[in-house]
Amino acid sequence: MQVFYNSKSIKAYLDTLIENKSIGFVPTMGALHHGHLSLVEQAKTENHLVVVSIFVNPTQFDKKEDLNKYPRTIDLDLKLLQTINCDMVFIPDVEEMYHQNILAEHFDFGGIEFEMEGKFRKGHFDGVGTIVKRFFEIIKPHKAYFGEKDFQQLQIVKKLVEINNIPVKIIGCEIFREEDGLAMSSRNIRLSEKQRKAAPFIYEILLEAKKKFGIISVDKIKQLVEEQFANNEYLKLEYFEIACEESLKPVNDCQEKRNYRAFIAVFANDVRLIDNIRLGN
Ligand code: PAJ
Repeated sequence: MQVFYNSKSIKAYLDTLIENKSIGFVPTMGALHHGHLSLVEQAKTENHLVVVSIFVNPTQFDKKEDLNKYPRTIDLDLKLLQTINCDMVFIPDVEEMYHQNILAEHFDFGGIEFEMEGKFRKGHFDGVGTIVKRFFEIIKPHKAYFGEKDFQQLQIVKKLVEINNIPVKIIGCEIFREEDGLAMSSRNIRLSEKQRKAAPFIYEILLEAKKKFGIISVDKIKQLVEEQFANNEYLKLEYFEIACEESLKPVNDCQEKRNYRAFIAVFANDVRLIDNIRLGN
């Protein structure tokens, strides 16, 4: 496994191989878990070589405190990537990616950036768009892999590629869960024992919403979800929405021929957890 710390060296290396070799790319912020590794495994089956980036991107955090508390476990990350025979790891520092200018570019993603996460994390998707675009320019992957865990981010990246004509295929990968249903996340290690025990409730609520979708109204489902969180000692609901997969616009009714998802964001004290589930069959 080759590890690179600056763009010049990884570019030079990739330039020597490019011919006839397909490059799969998995961008991450580190603190790797099996959710990340499942993306790498999928990338390995579909490409000759796989590049993973590890970079905690400052411009996508709306709160400095959240950025500072983001777990950084680089030695462990490298060990994990080695166990699954990842080919290349790119670990730039902030200077390398932003030089002296730690600012996000502004994008028009056609409105999807203002829904859900966009409402609660101002500027977040401009930050994601900025860094993902820069990584695509450096790595020039044929395919790039993003988890449905961050479904809105996946749709944003698809839009980013479309509006900037970037020649890369964006692949969405299923959510990887702990045995008790909690979606794997780098943030889970910040949960206290009690919060961790309480957290699978998030997925239970999503499963219940899936059962009820199409049987009772969306408003009624939302009301039930809010009621169930009202009495929860460890988890505070930030939002629960049922939205169309394409537009990400919240819906009140289900119409045929559209795909819908339920989206949720919850706080366990200062740890923010998100999850989602496809509705219908
Ligand atoms: P990060 O949170 O590290 O996630 C990296 C990738 O792993 C994302 O595509 C995310 O959706 C996916 N992922 C995380 N948990 C997952 C799970 N339980 N199952 C499946 N996939 C999962 O998302 C980011 O980093 C950043 O925003 C990034 C795209 C790297 C830009 O900075």
